Amino acid sequence: MKRNLGPVNALYPSLTTIVGAVVDGKPNFLAVAHVGIMNHGQPQYLSFGLNKKHYTNQGIVANREFSVCIPGEDLVVETDYVGLVTGRNTDKSGVFELFQGELAFAPLIVGCPVCMECRLERVLDFETHDVFIGEVVATHADESVLREDGKVDLARVRPLMFDMASMHYWSLGAQVAPCWNVGKGLKAALRGG
Ligand SMILES: Cc1cc2nc3c(=O)[nH]c(=O)nc-3n(C[C@H](O)[C@H](O)[C@H](O)COP(=O)(O)O)c2cc1C
Repeated sequence: MKRNLGPVNALYPSLTTIVGAVVDGKPNFLAVAHVGIMNHGQPQYLSFGLNKKHYTNQGIVANREFSVCIPGEDLVVETDYVGLVTGRNTDKSGVFELFQGELAFAPLIVGCPVCMECRLERVLDFETHDVFIGEVVATHADESVLREDGKVDLARVRPLMFDMASMHYWSLGAQVAPCWNVGKGLKAALRGG
């Protein structure tokens, strides 16, 4: 028997990211766990909703560039910190060691194993949130988290999974089964039936 919880968003866990932008000439960062993948293919678009009260929004709009970095479990304290304090009254530009990629206004974090530079595609104006849609321009990954085929090994990234119900960061679990693959037997059986 299931209980109707009302209009509860149950799309958790979600990936915890750190979004960076240049605001008033300084890098600023905030924790963002509501990130969406808009499509698969080229160009590659991603989205996230930022409360209009956040300081970072104005930098993204002004420069039309931003970064999305994926912290590992070792960066949980710093990640939480940039999600607790606002750049409106606290300078967060020195929290991380930074590096420059292709874009001038996408501050990238050395300590994050994977970082993406994005160009702003469009902003959706919701009542309380700006929904930013960005095109991924370049992705930088530490050699240490790459598999032999050059793809990112999630097990080595050790991302912080966010859960609203427990208000905790969680670890990634173990692999379950290969995608577009494990269902093939059932597909064949049902087709035959
Ligand atoms: C784990 C975590 C996830 C968060 N995810 C979001 C989010 O997806 N969207 C949002 O608007 N705020 C989110 N926040 C809140 C902002 O990170 C926070 O309010 C931040 O201090 C705003 O910084 P700024 O004013 O310097 O931009 C999150 C906070 C935490 C701790």
